Amino acid sequence: MAVLEKKLTSQQAIDLETRYGAQNYHPLPVVLTRGEGVFVWDVEGKQYYDFLSAYSAVNQGHCHPKIINALKLQAERLTLTSRAFYNDRLGHYEKYLTHYFGFDKVLPMNTGAEAVETAIKLARKWGYEKKGIHANQAKIVVCQNNFHGRTITIISASNDPIATENFGPFTPGIVSIRYNDLEALEDALKDNTIAAFLVEPIQGEAGVYVPDEHYIKDAYNLCKAHNVLFIADEVQTGIARTGKLLAVDHFGVKPDILILGKALSGGVIPVSAVLADDEVMEVIRPGNHGSTFGGNPLACAVATAALEVVEQEHLAENAERLGGIFRRHMQALVETTDLVRLVRGKGLLNAIVINDTEDSSTAWDMCMTLKENGLLAKPTHGNIIRFAPPLVMTEEQILDCVDIISQTVKTFKT
Ligand SMILES: Cc1ncc(COP(=O)(O)O)c(C=O)c1O
Repeated sequence: MAVLEKKLTSQQAIDLETRYGAQNYHPLPVVLTRGEGVFVWDVEGKQYYDFLSAYSAVNQGHCHPKIINALKLQAERLTLTSRAFYNDRLGHYEKYLTHYFGFDKVLPMNTGAEAVETAIKLARKWGYEKKGIHANQAKIVVCQNNFHGRTITIISASNDPIATENFGPFTPGIVSIRYNDLEALEDALKDNTIAAFLVEPIQGEAGVYVPDEHYIKDAYNLCKAHNVLFIADEVQTGIARTGKLLAVDHFGVKPDILILGKALSGGVIPVSAVLADDEVMEVIRPGNHGSTFGGNPLACAVATAALEVVEQEHLAENAERLGGIFRRHMQALVETTDLVRLVRGKGLLNAIVINDTEDSSTAWDMCMTLKENGLLAKPTHGNIIRFAPPLVMTEEQILDCVDIISQTVKTFKT
């Protein structure tokens, strides 16, 4: 206990994590102690712009007063009942959430990975009970370079060797095709044991890959033609991040199953959800699925407040507008230096690709210099740097960040 309360230097905190924690991450060497809005502070008091937002969980900004207030009020009343009993928050939340996103029902969970697992189970069960797939034959189509989480079934759908090596045996019933390739999808869907197509409307972890304009809509239509469920994993892209409430809104698609997580709580506590209409959700009956913490009153209060903030503060519109400004400035950087090959993204989910080999350390070194210059970002897949600030940013702040990024990049040599 004493150790937790002692004020640590950055190096002491890093040493503690290195000594006592499993080494399953490779963090940037910065030790944060406080956050407010778009800013975080390290233990030495240095202020940074947060340009990762905990992988798009903190869309509403750090410690948003309205969300924290909802957390405090509910924490003092009731935090957990389990689903063995009803509680007086869950129904309100379920009504609010389903109306907010336009679905009949929600199945509440906690983390993104759990929600993805839930969606896969739901799709398989629908496949057997509604589509008529023979027992234990159902398959799910996924895309290469996806990121849906870390459970055994989810990594069974991954082609990333670091995520999969020595974790077998893997879950069967997964067909992997190229992302953004409609022919591959059409081919895969000829198999009538396919229950669902699981896809990120924009691939986040892979390096912010935005598919062709018609891909998502055409993929959805192909699914409809083959009586296959279209599952959108919007754990990273959802809740205003890409400039619309959902990334699928850019493409005019309402998925059969919608997966949400991360910013559903504004990054305050783990809250995730799977939404679907009755025709799909009704295959789930008592005892089929659950989670002790799923739908807990604290999560319901926090997520309701988090979604209210998104609406009241027009975060989707802000992300859309600031994202346009950000990409225009990054495009200017692409045109004036050989160091940045391209910029891509939607809303405030963007990435630049550094003009160097994938195994080079340039992107990491740039993130280290960005850190020195007061902005925190992280490379993803070698030479790609993702930029995803909280959506409560102002135009003045984003221009300040554009300056920091441009000046930093220009200190590097080609
Ligand atoms: C698209 C997507 N799905 C699922 C997940 C898993 O979420 P969690 O880390 O909360 O399990 C992530 C996490 O980054 C994600 O980006």
